[in-house]
Amino acid sequence: MLFHSLMSGMMDIGKELDSFARLGAESVRVQELWDALAKIQRCQDRHGKMNDDSSTTVCESDAESSAGSFSDSDIENSSLDSSFVAHVGAVTLEELEVTTPVRLQLCSVTLYPPLSHEPLMCDLSLTVKQGDSLLLEGASGTGKSSLLRAIAGLWSRGSGTIRRTRLDRCFFLPQAPYLCLGSLRDNVLYPRDQTEVDVTSDQIIEVLGSLGISHLLDRHGLDMDLDFSNVLSGGERQRLGFARLLLRDDIELALLDEATSALDDENELIAYQLLKKKVHCYVSVGHRASLVANHSTRLQLTRPSKSDGDASGVHRPEAKFHFGT
Ligand SMILES: Nc1ncnc2c1ncn2[C@@H]1O[C@H](COP(=O)(O)OP(=O)(O)OP(=O)(O)O)[C@@H](O)[C@H]1O
Ligand SMILES: [Mg+2]
Repeated sequence: MLFHSLMSGMMDIGKELDSFARLGAESVRVQELWDALAKIQRCQDRHGKMNDDSSTTVCESDAESSAGSFSDSDIENSSLDSSFVAHVGAVTLEELEVTTPVRLQLCSVTLYPPLSHEPLMCDLSLTVKQGDSLLLEGASGTGKSSLLRAIAGLWSRGSGTIRRTRLDRCFFLPQAPYLCLGSLRDNVLYPRDQTEVDVTSDQIIEVLGSLGISHLLDRHGLDMDLDFSNVLSGGERQRLGFARLLLRDDIELALLDEATSALDDENELIAYQLLKKKVHCYVSVGHRASLVANHSTRLQLTRPSKSDGDASGVHRPEAKFHFGT
């Protein structure tokens, strides 16, 4: 009996050896990431200090290096671009007064992605007011989503000022909205809880119907728990995202990042018509020509060519406005 239990235990352990190995490898990776982040932090602190205090002596920085900080040779030899340590400052993010018709304002915004000295946009200024709609266009990688990240406050490397409507009146709609484990009702009200909101079943049914996804109700009902991320098509998922937005009454600025990329033209038009009725100011990111008709202004972000570098070798991207549709 004892022998049998021992054998069975050893077989169980044998079966899990793969998982142990994976856990070990993942722990090492987490530790390496942790070390790298600590190094970056020390490096940024040191450069910030050097920028703030031009009288910093070689001895002081040497002392820091020997205390475990980055040495200059570490920086040169880093597998990251050595210029990532350049101190580029931070974009200032401010909330606009509730009484102003302005919903978004960028004043001379220059934005850098993490670990890069190549700006995504330089000195960009714009104002978006109640009634305006802006389409952000540009090739992949030109910084469209990054600008939305900066508006949300997730990215701040750079300079200039972003003023926007207070965060609880902004709605960010990504290309693939997050789906929570739960019912259709839970998902359509997400991130709010049904106990916090005053949205009736009839309102949900109407919104789903207007977006052309009432078949989801027929199939799954409003309150059946399901892993919707395994069930919905890309276009259904995007329309569920729109339903979340349309069921809000307090949104003054919607920011949509390729939020209709999976929809056919007809359903995209329906979604934007519903959006226009509900939210009177929005900024969309998108590649499709069909979006142009649903926006009052377009902003084209352009990646500079390699030969466009300025005197310091930095490539300055451009932003071009087109007014009217
Ligand atoms: N977390 C990150 N760390 C470093 N660089 C990043 C990060 N996220 C994005 N980038 C870089 O920033 C640049 C702009 O990315 P962004 O996602 O804003 O592009 P995009 O214009 O939205 O492109 P797409 O049309 O493909 O969505 C890209 O070169 C990208 O590789
Ligand atoms: Mg993007």
